[in-house]
Amino acid sequence: MKKSTLSGIAISFAIFFTSCNNSTNNQTTTTEKMETKAGVTKTAWGNTDGKEVFLYTITNAKGVQVKISNYGATITSWVSPDKNNKPSSIVLGFDSLSGYLAKPPYFGAVVGRYGNRIAKGKFKIDKTEYTLATNNGPNALHGGLKGFDKQVWDATPASDSTASIELSYLSKDGEEGYPGNLKVAVRYTLTDDNELKIEYSASTDKATVLNVTNHSYFNLTGDVNNSILDHTLMIDADNYTPVDTTLIPTGEIKSVKGTPFDFTKAKKIGLEIGAVSGGYDHNFVLNKKDSSLSKIVELKDSISGRTLEVYTTQPGVQFYTGNFLDGKFSTPDGKKINQHAAMCLETQHFPDSPNEPKFPTTLLLPGQQFHSVTVYKLSVK
Ligand code: BGC
Repeated sequence: MKKSTLSGIAISFAIFFTSCNNSTNNQTTTTEKMETKAGVTKTAWGNTDGKEVFLYTITNAKGVQVKISNYGATITSWVSPDKNNKPSSIVLGFDSLSGYLAKPPYFGAVVGRYGNRIAKGKFKIDKTEYTLATNNGPNALHGGLKGFDKQVWDATPASDSTASIELSYLSKDGEEGYPGNLKVAVRYTLTDDNELKIEYSASTDKATVLNVTNHSYFNLTGDVNNSILDHTLMIDADNYTPVDTTLIPTGEIKSVKGTPFDFTKAKKIGLEIGAVSGGYDHNFVLNKKDSSLSKIVELKDSISGRTLEVYTTQPGVQFYTGNFLDGKFSTPDGKKINQHAAMCLETQHFPDSPNEPKFPTTLLLPGQQFHSVTVYKLSVK
């Protein structure tokens, strides 16, 4: 392990943020700094499955800071100043590995091999039927009992001048019931414009299905005591995929017009949530017509003055209002994480696509290279 390769810039950011974090939300007061590139520091964070876990801190020129662990390729915090220059994290996360080993509902993690649900944990490729563990009522959710979120990924800080890290994982043939050795990589880059860019790539040696996304929970106020129902949301989607009582799409693509699902013009999330049984937990069919990187979401909070824009190459987004958060988990500064304390905007292919031939395909064949990009862009006014 190389020591003392910290650049002057990275050293001053590290010192600035150590003091910042201690005085605000207790994000990280860590021990040994081990290896560093410009803009990225690496800290030992424990062990699990006989593998070493690290916490990487990416800092941009504005002093905004994102922390990522190679456990689950998880975003553990994203600290930025609000309109009064007070820094706080806009995502749910813990300041130690033990928080994640207690199995929170996918806080900040990369989920896969298949994010969201596959009905009854069964699907076919050609004539072969595959069976997955059913870990969510009768269905398979977020890759199974030990999905990508619970694996220790390999990680390398970027070797060029960008503030980024790349994580990779080999999901073996048969893991959680999925066919094919799948090589998957995720690259996180934090730009000086406060954009967190997430790039996924993957290839397989046997036909498989893939739906990989990040499961960050956002609360733009930086304080889980403020409900996200007061955030204002725009989703550029004229249609959504309705679900049955087990949250499996019915197969229909339904217009949002005249329904509580119409976010084509910005409105408060809480305005019509009462008319949606259980709260929002739905896939929105994005209006974008191709796989170019396009803006699909704008989320605003007046308390902090923060705005989050989402851009993606994917055809859908799962808008989930933290309906199942129930106070079981707490923030590093001891606040209970209750229902609607945070929300997800998971860019994705549609849930249960392997069983819905009319949905865009999630099949990945040998020789194909999967690539997708999502950008979360933060600003403050
Ligand atoms: C799902 C929810 C689920 C949550 C946490 C979301 O992506 O749509 O139904 O409760 O993840 O597992």
